[in-house]
Amino acid sequence: MFSSEAEAVLQARYLKDGETPADMFRRVAGHVAQAETRNGRDSFRAADEYRRLMDDLVFLPNSPTLINAGKARAQLAACFVLPVDDSLTSIFETLKNAALIHQSGGGTGFSFSRLRPACDRVSTTGGEASGPVSFMHIYDVATQVVKQGAARRGANMAVLRVDHPDIEQFITAKRSHDVLNNFNLSVAITDDFMQAVAAGRPYALVNPRNGGVVKTVAARGLFSLLVRMAWESGEPGLFFLDTVNRYNPTPGLGAFEAPNPCSEQPLLPYESCVLGSINLTRLVAGGDIDFGRLRQVVHTAVSFLDNVIDINDYPLPAVAEATRRTRKIGLGIMGLAEVFIMLDIPYASEAAVKLTGRILEFITGEARQASALLGAERGSFPAFAASVYPGRGFAAMRNATVTTIAPTGTISIIAGCSSGIEPLFALALSRRVLEGRVLTSVNRTVVDYLSQRNLYTEEIAETIATCGSVADTALPARIKEVLATAREIAPYWHVAHLAAAQMFTDNGVSKTVNMPHEASEADVAAIFRQAYAGGCKGVTVYRDGSRAEQVLTGGTVC
Ligand code: CDP
Repeated sequence: MFSSEAEAVLQARYLKDGETPADMFRRVAGHVAQAETRNGRDSFRAADEYRRLMDDLVFLPNSPTLINAGKARAQLAACFVLPVDDSLTSIFETLKNAALIHQSGGGTGFSFSRLRPACDRVSTTGGEASGPVSFMHIYDVATQVVKQGAARRGANMAVLRVDHPDIEQFITAKRSHDVLNNFNLSVAITDDFMQAVAAGRPYALVNPRNGGVVKTVAARGLFSLLVRMAWESGEPGLFFLDTVNRYNPTPGLGAFEAPNPCSEQPLLPYESCVLGSINLTRLVAGGDIDFGRLRQVVHTAVSFLDNVIDINDYPLPAVAEATRRTRKIGLGIMGLAEVFIMLDIPYASEAAVKLTGRILEFITGEARQASALLGAERGSFPAFAASVYPGRGFAAMRNATVTTIAPTGTISIIAGCSSGIEPLFALALSRRVLEGRVLTSVNRTVVDYLSQRNLYTEEIAETIATCGSVADTALPARIKEVLATAREIAPYWHVAHLAAAQMFTDNGVSKTVNMPHEASEADVAAIFRQAYAGGCKGVTVYRDGSRAEQVLTGGTVC
């Protein structure tokens, strides 16, 4: 049932000595179901339901849950955000806390926007401040040194507001190669900035220490620099700060400043979030999604993720407190691209975008119902009364958010499906994983699709295995559309799916907008504008071949 890639990944990091995948799922289900007993319920029944979902590969929780469940101090969440205040004490206290989180298998996001800019005055020493970017380098080195035991190396997200005086230095921080490798960078973009770009207005950069305007720059010049760097290397990404805060379910608890490392989960300072994803390829029946079964899966998955909040061993008291206050969970999907192939719909089509929206609308709606039921039975999240939910007619709600679309980088390999809402990167994959090992696999959904139509000839099989694509074959145009890979799909459609999914997802959506090598800077600018106008919370582009070391490469030879 598991692909050779899945077995390799499982053996390397997930399975304990002598454990089979079925043992692992039993371990995870049993651990999480203990929370049922605390709520006066039957933990055996819950454990059995959870185990079956995982055994069927229809739902998997994020990696830290799979790896750490059953341990004495089991930290189960993937995403954390920590605050960085403008003092050495805060900067190094947070660095220490980040190290503890990395050790437990989690990733950390930070906003460095509150730090005074480089060359600003430091009254205690009479010297000059070194600025956000230099502190990011310290964090990076610390992350590199604190390897995560048997789990994974820590990942970080650094955010800087677009009106911070050091923004240009931040945008170009990764221009010299081989620096900040443990960081993803995102610029926090405000509505005001996007309006200044549209109007061609000057734009003020403000010292966060005293609110003083340090200098005024052309908004369009700054935007062009951002576009140029994203075109060159895929970074920084954009984090649409005002959009994110418009959807803050608990504005009374403060504003969002940063998301987690892969940017799909905005969190308040010290909050953590556990993610889990439904493998939609297991829910296709009779030429459609089996929505009845999907409903059951969503309800069980919400119960699972909610129990993780109670059973989780938090790495810091402040994280335990902030997380329990809002009880955020992030249920998402994977395998979407393969569902389109199974249903014979091109990813690059209105029909597919509609289906993306329909699936997420259904999942978020059902997840909210499940959370409302749990809230009525076990109590709402403590900040419920001050949240947006009472005003929307909810009498109870167990979780301040219910849905997030994670990248599913590893769990999609275990489940044997395409990741998140991404199109297939290639029809056959060579993946550099686990310190340089190369693993190759031909996509099984593609083989089935072509075989059912008597089109999987030896010649086609050979082309797929070597090139990872059928674009240059004599197959009918419609077949080529359905089997189009990420870089063959116009960027417009990538953003269309991102926006459709975001419209019905509580938290953020992980998505890379792939672009062909020939794409221009104007193309990148158009993507950024489309994403902002479409209500996305963030966007990342990747131009084929713009980084020397790609994690994924299409085909085995080409
Ligand atoms: O598939 P898996 O559960 O391993 O993770 P993912 O969906 O690819 O990533 C989900 C989140 O896990 C990321 O946004 C990060 O917050 C965290 N992560 C991390 O800390 N370190 C990694 N190497 C990968 C992911």
